[in-house]
Amino acid sequence: MEHFKTIIEPFRIKSVEAVKFTHREEREAALREAGNNVFLLHGEDVLVDLLTDSGTGAMSAAQWGALMQGDESYAGSRSYYRFRDVVQELTGFRHVIPTHQGRAAERILFHSILEAGQVVPNNNHFDTTRANVEAEKAEARDLVIPEGRVPSQEHPFKGNIDLGALEKTLETDGDRIPLVMVTVTNNTGGGQPVSLENLRGVRRLCDRFQKPFYLDACRFAENSYFIKKREEGQGHRSPREIAREMFSLADGCTMSAKKDGLANIGGFLCTNDAELASRERNILIMTEGFPTYGGLAGRDLEAIAVGLRETLDEHYLDYRLLSTRYVVERLVDAGIPVMAPAGGHAVYLDARRFLPHIEPLHYPGQALSVELYIEAGVRAVEIGTVMFGLDPHTGEEHPARLDLLRLAIPRRVYTQSHMDYVLEAIGIVWERREKIRGMRITKAPQFLRHFTAHFDWLAE
Ligand code: F0G
Repeated sequence: MEHFKTIIEPFRIKSVEAVKFTHREEREAALREAGNNVFLLHGEDVLVDLLTDSGTGAMSAAQWGALMQGDESYAGSRSYYRFRDVVQELTGFRHVIPTHQGRAAERILFHSILEAGQVVPNNNHFDTTRANVEAEKAEARDLVIPEGRVPSQEHPFKGNIDLGALEKTLETDGDRIPLVMVTVTNNTGGGQPVSLENLRGVRRLCDRFQKPFYLDACRFAENSYFIKKREEGQGHRSPREIAREMFSLADGCTMSAKKDGLANIGGFLCTNDAELASRERNILIMTEGFPTYGGLAGRDLEAIAVGLRETLDEHYLDYRLLSTRYVVERLVDAGIPVMAPAGGHAVYLDARRFLPHIEPLHYPGQALSVELYIEAGVRAVEIGTVMFGLDPHTGEEHPARLDLLRLAIPRRVYTQSHMDYVLEAIGIVWERREKIRGMRITKAPQFLRHFTAHFDWLAE
């Protein structure tokens, strides 16, 4: 089929789930009820749900079949060993600790090795990663390359960490740095990939300064495929070989199996350090569960084991990255400001340029999320000043570096016609953008306010 231009979904559909259509008045009422925060909507009231690609994917028939193989033994479950073998085969890490999702792995890792006043460098921390660093009273420092901060600037590996800045940070603050992290793909920076060359550079610096190097590996498979497609000399390798090399450069990883694990729940924490693994398992037992299930059912471990293999299938990855690019290219053609080039798992509208009349502290990304829902029942998430603008310790608020609206694409769930509908919806909102008003927060918690804050429109 190599001579065909049309990329089709590399699956056929065996089981379907109906979606609910609503009228505009119903959506307006639902949003009022939800304090104008799309996180607080009932999922049922959403037609096309692009809030997240996390845990929202469709499992394969093979995964559903594997669920029945789940061994629910409290200790020493067969499913754990199957899961562990698949993770070890993929990553090469010696110690594999299952967790109920990625943030549990983050909390256990940071609680085990971070002290107050320390610094964790990363290309960009995701929000839960940042919160877990800050919960230990440490600093989460973002060192993505300058190109990664400009939404419209093209770069094949826009998720790369700035090696010069990392070197300087290690020179000046080295005694306060217990580990270096790199997030693949860089979710906060637009789902942008990190090159092998960049990861090798991080490894060299970590060797020189004797620091452990961790991957936040949630979207490792998508990152591997970007490397195959874009990095010189990598085109002939399989995504699996590339993924193996990525992991081999690191000393450990945190992982949310809800993304490239193709599962609805789950995660893991890996390390080569036996002493650290034992401390981590102690925390695991206190908060997640025994080390052979870590907060998951045996059946979940089975689904992840199958998912971790399926996710490296080239036809799947080809379709996955092309379907994201399809949306981005049409937005670019329509002149709608968008993060370019396309990332792996999501499309990011540049809300600051979409709504230039709304200043960052009036939350253009939030305003856009609300409009898209009212217009079309499409749910997306603000990644900007609501998410990152508040310093929870000082209470001060500043504009985030970017104000984006992320439309994350669940894996194997929506077809191209769903995406055409979303494109039409964005086009309609774009036409009436000048009438869209900024917002203010009427109620918010101290940490992770974007999940539960309430909003209202500014007066005209
Ligand atoms: N790291 C990255 C880069 C992530 O994108 C996420 C989750 C996590 C860690 C935490 O994993 O959800 O399993 O606890 N991102 C989701 C998202 C929530 O919508 O981007 P988790």
